[in-house]
Amino acid sequence: MDESIMDSTTQELMARGKGILAIDESLPTIGKRFASVGVKSTKDNRRAWRELLIDTPESGQYISGVILFDETIRQQAVDGTPFSWLLQKLGILPGIKVDMGARPLAGCPGEKVTEGLDGLRERLQEYHGMSAQFAKWRAVISIGEEGSLPSACCLHVNAHALGRYAALCQEAEIIPVVEPEVLMEGNHDQARCREVTARTLQAVFAELERQGVALEHTVLKTGMVVSGKDCPEQAAIAQVAEQTVQCLQECVPAAVAGVVFLSGGQAPTTATAHLNAMNAAYPDLPWPLSFSYGRALQEPALQHWAGQADRVESARALLLHREKCNSLACTGRYAESLEVAS
Ligand code: 13P
Repeated sequence: MDESIMDSTTQELMARGKGILAIDESLPTIGKRFASVGVKSTKDNRRAWRELLIDTPESGQYISGVILFDETIRQQAVDGTPFSWLLQKLGILPGIKVDMGARPLAGCPGEKVTEGLDGLRERLQEYHGMSAQFAKWRAVISIGEEGSLPSACCLHVNAHALGRYAALCQEAEIIPVVEPEVLMEGNHDQARCREVTARTLQAVFAELERQGVALEHTVLKTGMVVSGKDCPEQAAIAQVAEQTVQCLQECVPAAVAGVVFLSGGQAPTTATAHLNAMNAAYPDLPWPLSFSYGRALQEPALQHWAGQADRVESARALLLHREKCNSLACTGRYAESLEVAS
């Protein structure tokens, strides 16, 4: 592993005031997103949508990296430029989702384990040859009713797989983005989310250490400590900021290169407000706190575009607006009044 390449890639990915755009939806997931706006999920429509997202020249001011799906990293813009080259031209690092999805975990009803380790070394080499400089692997952790889930087994096997993935990435000079997502689905309260997030992070970092993963070349992608979607009492923004930061302080080693959040179904403006509240109230944490949002960056643009070619430019403006607001939130300089002006 060339340490200096890994150092500079990590610094670029976690550059202050920039975040990651996640556009790595698998075929079933992009199918669902397209269906919500009446667009058919064909290869051409997916290419057109992803070209809209990628070829937004001003994005480089706010976005350090874009996570692509296998199909997309092999695709080209209409003028024939591969998407990964286009990103590099804009000063943005191409990244790649390398897991093969979460499948039911044998012996643990209602829980999942993420697959994709077989052949991963070879796939990473291939992606590296296609300019990928960072990768993502997502584990899914569900919170069950009345303290039933997650099981210790589910946390262990997912943490172990994240460790295997991260070590293989670093061997291939690719920065691993380690994503154990605690789902927001459920009626649990915020305290329960904090407890499960803490157990998850502790299991993950124990495995990373056991497997010799270099934390200074590792990015954590996590959910925030929020109330379950169906919980009657929703934690306020300041409370989400406080509980999330305290949980991270408790569980994330200072050596980790950076922490980026997923949006997990939060409304776009709420995801921005939460990130902003954390950076405004806690400016001196050991790691930068930034974003790696999928839906919270794409949603307004997707709803507006809805497959119509004459709306590409106006949809790009909506995407850029969310990118800019989240960039400001990385340094606690976002204000709700910016939304009114949009
Ligand atoms: P959301 O921000 O839509 O949760 O997606 C981020 C992501 O990459 C999930 O793996």
